[in-house]
Formats: sequence, C-alpha cells, structure tokens
Amino acid sequence: MYVYAIRKRGIIKMNLYKRNLLTLLDFTPEEIQYLLDLSLSLKKKKHNGEAHDVLRGKNIVLLFEKDSTRTRCAFEVAASDLGMNAVYIGSSGSQMGKKESIADTARVLGRMFDGIEYRGFKQKTVEDLAKYSKVPTWNGLTEDYHPTQILADFMTIIEQKGKLKGIKMAYLGDGRYNMGNSYLVGAAKMGLDYRMVGPKELWPNEALRNRCLEIAKETGAKLTFTENVEEGVKDADVIATDVWVSMGEDASVWEERINLLKPYQVNARVMSFADPKAIFIHCLPSFHNLETKVGMEVYEKFGLNGLEVTEEVFEGPQSVVFDEAENRLHTIKAVMLATLKENL
Ligand code: CP
Ligand code: NVA
Repeated sequence: MYVYAIRKRGIIKMNLYKRNLLTLLDFTPEEIQYLLDLSLSLKKKKHNGEAHDVLRGKNIVLLFEKDSTRTRCAFEVAASDLGMNAVYIGSSGSQMGKKESIADTARVLGRMFDGIEYRGFKQKTVEDLAKYSKVPTWNGLTEDYHPTQILADFMTIIEQKGKLKGIKMAYLGDGRYNMGNSYLVGAAKMGLDYRMVGPKELWPNEALRNRCLEIAKETGAKLTFTENVEEGVKDADVIATDVWVSMGEDASVWEERINLLKPYQVNARVMSFADPKAIFIHCLPSFHNLETKVGMEVYEKFGLNGLEVTEEVFEGPQSVVFDEAENRLHTIKAVMLATLKENL
C-alpha cells in the first residue's frame, strides 16, 4: 500500500549530494523519508533485475575496526550493483590510528576515493574522517549511533505497516548505546509513538533525551521512557531489541547487564502485551539460542539459553528480522546513491 502511495505521489526528491551520514540528527524528516522512498524503489529495481550501475567508475573505501556481516556485505554488494569498486580495510593491515592519525589518513583517502564508510569505536573518528577527507562519509556503526541500521528498520516497518508516523514502537533493552540512541533519534524525527523500555541506568543520556523531546515537539512524535514492560509494550505495533553487551564492551559486564536486563527479554509474555499483529525486529546478530560461541559461554556461566530474545519469538511468525537484514542492502545503496550522484 505504501509503495502504491509513493507511485501515485512520486518520490519527493531532496538534494543530498556530497552529504555525510554520521547521525540521523543531521537530517530532516523529509530527507529521511526521501532515503526510505529511494530504498524502496531500489529494492524493486534489484528484484526486477533492472540494472542501476549509475555510479560506474567511482571508488569507495570501507574501514572496519570492528567485525561485521550485514554492514560490510551490504556496502560491498550495493557498491557493485551501482557499478562502483569497493576496497575493504579491516582492523589490521593499514596505518590508520597506529602510525598515522585519523586526519592524515582521511586526507589520503579523500584523494583516492569518492566515499568512505567507517565502523568502529568513537563517533569523533567518523566525524574527523568526514571533516578531513572532504568526501561523503557514512557511519557504519560507532558506540553512539548506527544510522544505516535505522533506515533499514524503518523501511521494514513501512513495508509491514504502511507508514511510520504514529506507529507504536517499543524498544526493550540497552538504550544508551548505538541502537538505543539511534532508534530514539529516528523515532523523534519520523513522528513515532516510541517507548524506551528498560532500566533507568540504561536509558539514552539526558542531553540526547532532551534534544529528541525538542525534535518531537516539531514532528508530533510521542517519546516515553519507562521501566515498566507492560506499560511500554501495550498495544505496540513494533517490538525491537538489541544485544545486551555490544561489540567492544568488556566481557566482565555480562553479569551486571544480565541482572539489569533479564526482565526486559523479548519473550512470548512480552509479545502478548503488544498488538496481535505486532512485528518483531532486531538489527542482528542475536543471541536467541546456543548455536554461537558467545551464546554458549554465557549459558555455561549464567544458565540462560536465550538472552535478549527467546528462540520462540525470534523464529516465530511475527519476526521479520531477515527482511530487515536484506533491507540493509537497499538502504545503504540509497545512501550512497543520494550522496554520490549529482542531479539524481
Ligand atoms: N546489524 C549489523 O550491523 O550487523 P553486522 O554487525 O553484521 O554488520
Ligand atoms: N549494539 C550492537 C549492534 C550490532 C549491530 C553492537 O554495537 O554490537
């Protein structure tokens, strides 16, 4: 129904040429909507087998200081579909941060590449890469934000629910890290009825909460912060969660995190408070069974065989996590296309 609506009204174009994507805070709701519309149209092209290699001859570099399956593959496949060449640099093998500063690295990369993706620790690193390289720079995850993930998640919500405005979304778990922060920003920008459900200690920091509450006044978003699961999840259209311990955090935090977040596990009881047609989303990777090394280690230590979500919900009919994973490709492609192609 949504795709039909954009076909009727046409995509409302925004000029994002040469922009960076460091956090969704830098984008207007209209610009975010444009990226989502573009993603939906690129998905259709891909599924129909229509060529869209309109960025032939361009080169991008992918800097990964942390591991990745989805983000790396999405950038590489999207680059290839658009006709671009992508160079991958992992956590070792380049001089960056060891023998060469971020500013110097950025100035070198900016002379060779048309765009830079960065995944790693500090938000300042991706900001500096953008500042010194002077080419479009995209945040593929930092401690603070994961903006390309939110675009994929919102695209999935649109596909499933037909809209974003007024959608009741509950995010359960660790709210003070990249996913929790980014959902809050995205929800504020796009006018959702968003509930951050988790212990106070793990809510987004006060400055970000206040900034998003200000944005919400303009967009009509409703933002709730609650420790009460039933209240937060009540009638929700979308239930989301993320891992309880993120990449780069020390394994010693598991015990404290499990104690804080166990009441916020997404399980059948939690889903029963939501709308019966609610969907479950998760950025992945997820600990929902014992088929991972870390999942097994946590089980041996703490006796839990599912962490942030149970196997039942993850594998159940309400889960759309693999649509969401596929949508990483289409949304990342839209971001690169919009920022690298003049007069799109
Ligand atoms: N969701 C996500 O960013 O996955 P990867 O860590 O596999 O890139
Ligand atoms: N919060 C998670 C997201 C993974 C995509 C992490 O940073 O590990």
